[in-house]
Amino acid sequence: MKIKWLICLLTFGTIIHFTAAAQTRKSSPADLKTLIDSALNRAVRQYSFLGTQLPDGLLPKTYYWGTKKFETSKTNWWTSGFYPGTLHYLYDYSKNESIQKEALRVEQFLQKEQFNKGTHDLGFMMYNSFGHANQQNPSKQTEDILVNSAKSLSSRFRTTTGTIKSWDHGKWQFPVIIDNMMNLELLFWATKYTKDSTYYKIAVTHANTTLVNHYRKDYSSYHVIDYDSTTGVVRAKNTHQGYSDASAWARGQAWGLYGYVSTYRYTKDKKYLAQANQIAHFIMHHPRLPEDGIPFWDFDSPDIPATYRDASAGAITAAALLELSQYNAAPLQKEYLQMAEKIIRSLSTPTYTANIGENGGFILKHSTGHLPANSEVDVPLTYADYYYVEALVRLRSMLK
Ligand code: GLY
Repeated sequence: MKIKWLICLLTFGTIIHFTAAAQTRKSSPADLKTLIDSALNRAVRQYSFLGTQLPDGLLPKTYYWGTKKFETSKTNWWTSGFYPGTLHYLYDYSKNESIQKEALRVEQFLQKEQFNKGTHDLGFMMYNSFGHANQQNPSKQTEDILVNSAKSLSSRFRTTTGTIKSWDHGKWQFPVIIDNMMNLELLFWATKYTKDSTYYKIAVTHANTTLVNHYRKDYSSYHVIDYDSTTGVVRAKNTHQGYSDASAWARGQAWGLYGYVSTYRYTKDKKYLAQANQIAHFIMHHPRLPEDGIPFWDFDSPDIPATYRDASAGAITAAALLELSQYNAAPLQKEYLQMAEKIIRSLSTPTYTANIGENGGFILKHSTGHLPANSEVDVPLTYADYYYVEALVRLRSMLK
């Protein structure tokens, strides 16, 4: 049974590998704008379909092809900001009023999370949604939601550890996950808006502590660092969603890359740029990064190549590299652009992009949420869609 499963997986992995590579080779730079526009138009149609499936008060999470199960989440789940965030991007692009209306509908019931002090994920939940809404249409009401969210997130910071606490659950005393770097943008925004430097200082302290404790000599990252909450001493370096404590969980590497790129955007401190460049180097030159640029779920999975990809890690990496390319001169600039373009082209092939009306209404297939828990394996995920659309929009505006 196990051998049969392995053969299936190996065949499937090989098909993904060669189909995507072949489709990538067929494209030329001249058609890039057409490719992006067609991908965004498809995304608008697919998300219009996704919206028709949503029960009131719930958000899309994933879809299981085998059982045809469309899974939703409540607003307090960490991914709740991605659906409205993607809709905002798609509205910016299409000016389709029903897309905008749907984002605003969802944000009506999402806004209560501004007072949630039980998670570090408020950046994902509130900044990717309301932060974007506020750029489109600034209002005191949205700004208050964002400031309250920044206050709730800051309540999880401790000077003893120099970090924001990620989770209140699990085997750890004061766990901090690399993903937490993604929530700092909300704090940088809050200082810019309120002129209160407290948020900025918390973000910078967290980024500095993470730089010291989360990173290995090769610039790969641990997933979870457990701190002693009274002394700040590191108690353990673990994983939760990766293959092992010592492995490089693919999405964690992407979160770290994106997190240091955006920290550089707000601070202009060169050490964050250097860190982002090193992380990019680790990802892009990894011998086990597949030809199409979409990583396996963990760079150190012993089952490579007969294991699952994580399209979400690819999408996050592409969005981050596009921004990073703008902070570097040649040859790095070109290298980052080429890799981002390769990932976008791969994700835009039928290997990863679903047909309209399929895949539960999600845009991309083949992401991996939490393989060790056998949860969300080889499925669509809202955040894969969000960062893919962000990458498309970023590249499109760069082409202009
Ligand atoms: N932030 C949780 C994850 O990346 O799965």
